[in-house]
Amino acid sequence: MASTILEMRDITKTFPGVKALSNVNLSVEEGEIHAVVGENGAGKSTLMKVLSGVYPSGTYDGEIIYRGDECHFKGIHDSERRGIVIIHQELALVPMLSIAENIFLGNEHARYGVIDWNANETRTSALLKKVGLKEDPKTLITNIGVGKQQLVEIAKALSKEVQLLILDEPTASLSEKDSQALLDLLLEFKRHGITSILISHKLNEVNRVADKVTIIRDGRTIETLAKKDISEDRIITSMVGRSLDDRYPSREPEIGEIVLQVRNWSVYHPIHAERQVIKGIDIDVRKGEVVGIAGLMGAGRTEFAMSLFGRSYGRRITGEVLLKGKPIDVSSVSKAVEHGIAYVTEDRKTYGLNLIDHIKHNITLANLPGVSRHSVIDDMRELAVANAYKAKTNIRSSSVYQMT
Ligand SMILES: Nc1ncnc2c1ncn2[C@@H]1O[C@H](COP(=O)(O)OP(=O)(O)O)[C@@H](O)[C@H]1O
Ligand SMILES: [Mg+2]
Repeated sequence: MASTILEMRDITKTFPGVKALSNVNLSVEEGEIHAVVGENGAGKSTLMKVLSGVYPSGTYDGEIIYRGDECHFKGIHDSERRGIVIIHQELALVPMLSIAENIFLGNEHARYGVIDWNANETRTSALLKKVGLKEDPKTLITNIGVGKQQLVEIAKALSKEVQLLILDEPTASLSEKDSQALLDLLLEFKRHGITSILISHKLNEVNRVADKVTIIRDGRTIETLAKKDISEDRIITSMVGRSLDDRYPSREPEIGEIVLQVRNWSVYHPIHAERQVIKGIDIDVRKGEVVGIAGLMGAGRTEFAMSLFGRSYGRRITGEVLLKGKPIDVSSVSKAVEHGIAYVTEDRKTYGLNLIDHIKHNITLANLPGVSRHSVIDDMRELAVANAYKAKTNIRSSSVYQMT
């Protein structure tokens, strides 16, 4: 008979101006894989940060009962001591340190105050084997892909004798193959008695591995479904709050004349000078069209887009770009922007946003003249524009002064 390992009761968490969680309940049985799903901004990450002590006891209301004890975690060390380990949405490994150094960072095996590297590496090898990662413990994090980095995070969790593993959107940036491998690993852990909480947007994954699903919407628990009741339609209905009879409604696009033409576009690798990454691509885009660029990882999709956008990627770029039939100069980002071209990157944290500035500045940064008068920024105008876009794109934040 399974017993309850975790009860979160009536959890309420407020940030200035935003009630991120209102009386949320979550009950997890020992040994299960419990999925937590909900739209962006629903409160999933916040709930897990409450659980793991990132938001310490006292900064939220409600109770956390773990293995029968009411817990008041003051920080992440307290939860880890009880075997609760969280792997955050944004991976937190140090790129220039090795796998072994990352796994035992702050937790090194030492004798008489001296780190025992051999012991760390031997233990790392054993952990890597458990997660199925064939890499040398001395390999630097920067030299392995995100899929493998995710496995290092999991190996790190195992090193802390994890009993309740929390994964916050672990497959968001993984390829299909890496995602499958990760889910298989979760199932394997389950056979060894480890309980997992899996936050995911990908309903096919949830369907595949979850024993139960809790749906959160606007900071509230909507329902918890048992395995037999899990279906994508049911989950979507609960997530968005209305039934979606037609998930992909047909559209009548108005396709106009050709707007953008790219001719014989060719790009070489920025470091390996002899490697041609893009080999003479031609593409036509009509007004009102959404054009998909498909291809495997490494096929050059991002490189093509970035090189078009002001040569943000690559060297020895040749070819022609025409806007409404006229050749245009897109040799710098500002020129591309002047021609009305915008680029939304897959890596928002590194290339897309200035994370040490607030939402208002991030919104207006690409077009400061648009909010200036006589070359001086008009604060009121900037605020109005930022607020308008916040509303239009439904950005959930207390105000545009929240840090990104
Ligand atoms: N540090 C923070 N300060 C202010 N508001 C926050 C903070 N973190 C999250 N929020 C807000 O709390 C809500 C829930 O966010 P989050 O838990 O990240 O959602 P999810 O993980 O489901 O996408 C959002 O409205 C978000 O803007
Ligand atoms: Mg989140």
